[in-house]
Amino acid sequence: MIRDILRMGDARLLARAREVERFATRELEALLDDMRDTMRAADGAGLAAPQIGVPLRVVIFGVEANPRYPDVEPVPYTELINPVLTPLTDEEEEGWEGCLSVPGLRGLVPRCTRLRYEGSDPAGRRIVREVDGFHARVVQHECDHLDGILYPQRIRDLRKFGFTEVLFPERAAGE
Ligand code: NI
Repeated sequence: MIRDILRMGDARLLARAREVERFATRELEALLDDMRDTMRAADGAGLAAPQIGVPLRVVIFGVEANPRYPDVEPVPYTELINPVLTPLTDEEEEGWEGCLSVPGLRGLVPRCTRLRYEGSDPAGRRIVREVDGFHARVVQHECDHLDGILYPQRIRDLRKFGFTEVLFPERAAGE
């Protein structure tokens, strides 16, 4: 079921989400079904459970290769529960981000370029991956939601924050 996505200004987006304690449950499967439907309907790269008002440490993300955006690296579709991120470098890189809870806007956000993420899949099986580039950026963005952080809080230069169709007029049709 497609759920409403909370937008910036809603206090529920600023809360710390709590750990999932039981895996392979019908409730968790239903939550993930709704998250997947909601993310796909909104054409997003990721979604965190708090964005649909569920205060649990659950994120999904994934980006398919898209000929419209040849510079965007594909990211495998992943359902990640109780994630823990460990930076593998001090290096940061700035990149443009958007968020389904901050519709129509983009901002330039610094993120760690390489990290390890650990967590569980919905069945409770361990996931451990080392990633870099866009994959690392997407994971950091989604996991920030679990700690009540929206990307505008991470922008260093607010002059690099604006409306997508103004910043990227050539891409406006793809919003
Ligand atoms: Ni977001």
